[in-house]
Amino acid sequence: MSPLVPTELSGCAEKLIRGRHATRAFRPEAVPEDTMRAIFSLAGAAPSNSNAQPWRVEVVSGAPRERLAGALQAAHAEQRLSADLPYAETMYAQEHQARRRAFGAQLYGALGIGADDHEARAAYDAESLRFYGAPHAAFLFVTGDGGPRLAADVGAYMQTLLLAMTAYGVASCPQGLLSFYADTVRAELGVSEGKLLVGISFGYADASAPVNHVTTERAALEAVTAFHG
Ligand SMILES: Cc1cc2nc3c(=O)[nH]c(=O)nc-3n(C[C@H](O)[C@H](O)[C@H](O)COP(=O)(O)O)c2cc1C
Repeated sequence: MSPLVPTELSGCAEKLIRGRHATRAFRPEAVPEDTMRAIFSLAGAAPSNSNAQPWRVEVVSGAPRERLAGALQAAHAEQRLSADLPYAETMYAQEHQARRRAFGAQLYGALGIGADDHEARAAYDAESLRFYGAPHAAFLFVTGDGGPRLAADVGAYMQTLLLAMTAYGVASCPQGLLSFYADTVRAELGVSEGKLLVGISFGYADASAPVNHVTTERAALEAVTAFHG
């Protein structure tokens, strides 16, 4: 095997990709508009099949963010669920479920919530609809027919966006939970097109919050990657 040869960018890539973490407690300061524009311009460089760019992004801050948080919590309390893209626990294989359980134990452990305290977990999830206190949230819609292939393109956009944020010192948390209230998001933001894939809360991390120090493991390279030839 030939030796690993670092390039000009490999060290940056290690820092950028490994330096991104889901953040669940934020400081209230807004991200300046110029930084916001730089981040979302960079995210637009994401790849997509035939360069179709089948995404639409709605960013909320200030009063509209406050109104939307209230509307999401009301929809949640009244169980007005409206997911555009199907979700079922059964979509996960056993090994995925095991990873999810391990992650849940870590997350709720850091919050001081016990494994069997379903009420406290549910209350934390409901509170997370206020974007974990982040001053901004971005909603990623899959346009076109909203099918799985186009959703994959929007997934590529999402990760590009998360890394662009990391590069500018902006912390983030993708929240699948926000996509369960697609009709509420559409109504509040006056959106008529696309299927809601995910919401991303973002701002500056509250480094003093223990929940922001949860670390997540990944499966070993060999467990998920095969090199043929
Ligand atoms: C599509 C997607 C949906 C997610 N949904 C949620 C969510 O609803 N709530 C939450 O707190 N974190 C959510 N996360 C964050 C994951 O829990 C987190 O990315 C994962 O545990 C790995 O941790 P890391 O991002 O810190 O590396 C989501 C992440 C992705 C990519």
